[in-house]
Amino acid sequence: MSLSKETSQKNNEAIISLKNISKVYGDLKALDNVSLEVRPGRVTALLGPNGAGKTTIVRILTTLLRPTSGTATVNNFDVLNDAQALRKVIGLAGQSVAVDEILTGRENLEMVGRLYHLSIKDARKRADELLAQFELDEAADRIAKTYSGGMRRRLDLAASLVLKPKVLFLDEPTTGLDPRSRFALWNVIRELVNSGTTVLLTTQYLEEADKLAKYIFVVDYGKIIAQGTADELKRSAGGDVLELHITNHEEAALAAEVIGEYGDEKPNANMGTGIVTMITNAGAIILPEVIRKLDKKGLDISDVIFRRPSLDDVFMKLTGHKVESSQ
Ligand SMILES: Nc1ncnc2c1ncn2[C@@H]1O[C@H](COP(=O)(O)OP(=O)(O)OP(=O)(O)O)[C@@H](O)[C@H]1O
Ligand SMILES: [Mg+2]
Repeated sequence: MSLSKETSQKNNEAIISLKNISKVYGDLKALDNVSLEVRPGRVTALLGPNGAGKTTIVRILTTLLRPTSGTATVNNFDVLNDAQALRKVIGLAGQSVAVDEILTGRENLEMVGRLYHLSIKDARKRADELLAQFELDEAADRIAKTYSGGMRRRLDLAASLVLKPKVLFLDEPTTGLDPRSRFALWNVIRELVNSGTTVLLTTQYLEEADKLAKYIFVVDYGKIIAQGTADELKRSAGGDVLELHITNHEEAALAAEVIGEYGDEKPNANMGTGIVTMITNAGAIILPEVIRKLDKKGLDISDVIFRRPSLDDVFMKLTGHKVESSQ
């Protein structure tokens, strides 16, 4: 499904491009003919559940993994033929944090600078700048082992920025962080983009894609199943959402049956939470009737919500399952 006018952008506007990329492991198609284009100077998100293929895309784009077929470029450098030049313009903060625990924050950053052939003086200067930018200056001389999860993430992100990359890849940058650290990291990412960096991030958090990304590719089972801005995706749900909280959770399926006639599609009933959601174009005017019908069946409702669709609803509609499956 293609939802945005932006998909008609000219090729030369894309800073990242994948064309018909597949990656096959035996019988498993980790990526199945994926094509996508990312525009410069903004955050673009790859949103999808565990195993969708997000890391595989990032690893191919950062030259760590060869695709089985297809072509991909970053900044017009081909991932296979221009890998060395490509690596010079990118930064990567991988899914597992790659800081050296027995070094201090400062030493970690200086080491990266030295690995990239900066002089000792320049490596030090850059480390100081990054420590300040990521508010790690106070902890700079403690070994990373003593850092909290959020501090490690920030240090890892700082390490990916030593060379001021043009394009930054962040693979699930905020997984495992508490909400406060997550918001703080979002702000750091926003600042980077304001200073001209292009960011491609992967996430399983709908809110992260919603709040941070200008454009979202929804990935599931190795395919791009939808793309657009958060608003475009939400509009694609095609109506409003009626959400019912059934007091007796096991009765959710029965409630779904009762309200089905008002929906544009089959309602989703979650017997674990007792929540029933349904996309409808009938308007809030149906509420009294819906409640009467449920009452007649002896179904007790603890909450009724009539709202705009969320990315969650969109994902559910597209795939029949939730994106944040591991939550
Ligand atoms: N080296 C490998 N050998 C075999 N299968 C692999 C290999 N690497 C990845 N896969 C499979 O490819 C699929 C896509 O994996 P990938 O790591 O890209 O998913 P992901 O979207 O990043 O998931 P997560 O959110 O869990 O990080 C999964 O089914 C995974 O098991
Ligand atoms: Mg991954």
